[in-house]
Amino acid sequence: TKRIVVLISGSGSNLQALINACAQGDIQASIVAVISNRPRVYGLERAQAAGIETQTLDHKNFAERAAFDQALKALIDSFQPDLVVLAGFMRILTAEFVQAYTGRMLNIHPSLLPAYKGVHTHQRALDDQAQIHGASVHFVTAELDAGAVVLQAEVPVFAEDTAETLAARVLVKEHRIYPQVVAWFCAERLSYQDGAAYLDGQRLLAPLKL
Ligand code: GAR
Repeated sequence: TKRIVVLISGSGSNLQALINACAQGDIQASIVAVISNRPRVYGLERAQAAGIETQTLDHKNFAERAAFDQALKALIDSFQPDLVVLAGFMRILTAEFVQAYTGRMLNIHPSLLPAYKGVHTHQRALDDQAQIHGASVHFVTAELDAGAVVLQAEVPVFAEDTAETLAARVLVKEHRIYPQVVAWFCAERLSYQDGAAYLDGQRLLAPLKL
């Protein structure tokens, strides 16, 4: 069974969805460590409650991004993971770091990529009067939020939405699509080669939709 390290920065509700899916046997893997770049976030408590080892690597203790990333890599590698899962991890990663995990690092992003890369995705969708919004699970590449998208889920945007109500609607979908993609990876059904994602040996020409 595969070994997963999860990186978080906050509440960890996606982490919780992954913990639950592992416990239910929907994901054939064990989460061997949860690493946060922010001390005392709620996601660390979720991990501890599930009996998962936690580590905090506070980026504020590092003068340079490259030094933080080197320490993060050493910490991750000490757990010998098959897969690194970014779950609400809010740090930009250097190209050197990302290249060390090519094809074995996934991220979830709260938009229908390639729309709204970066932060404040829900407010930006509202500002644009977008009618459809959603979330994407993708392989991580050096360019921010630009790696091959595996699976997306859409939600409607309502006239009375705020960034908070929209975020909550998207999050419900995130908790479905992230465990699905991680399950595929751990079952060796999902892979990555030359910038593209493959499911059951077929190259994905477009993101799958929930
Ligand atoms: C999620 O909405 C996730 O998609 C987003 O942060 C939230 C974390 O929630 N990630 C990013 O914006 C990555 N740039 P969680 O901690 O409850 O899983």
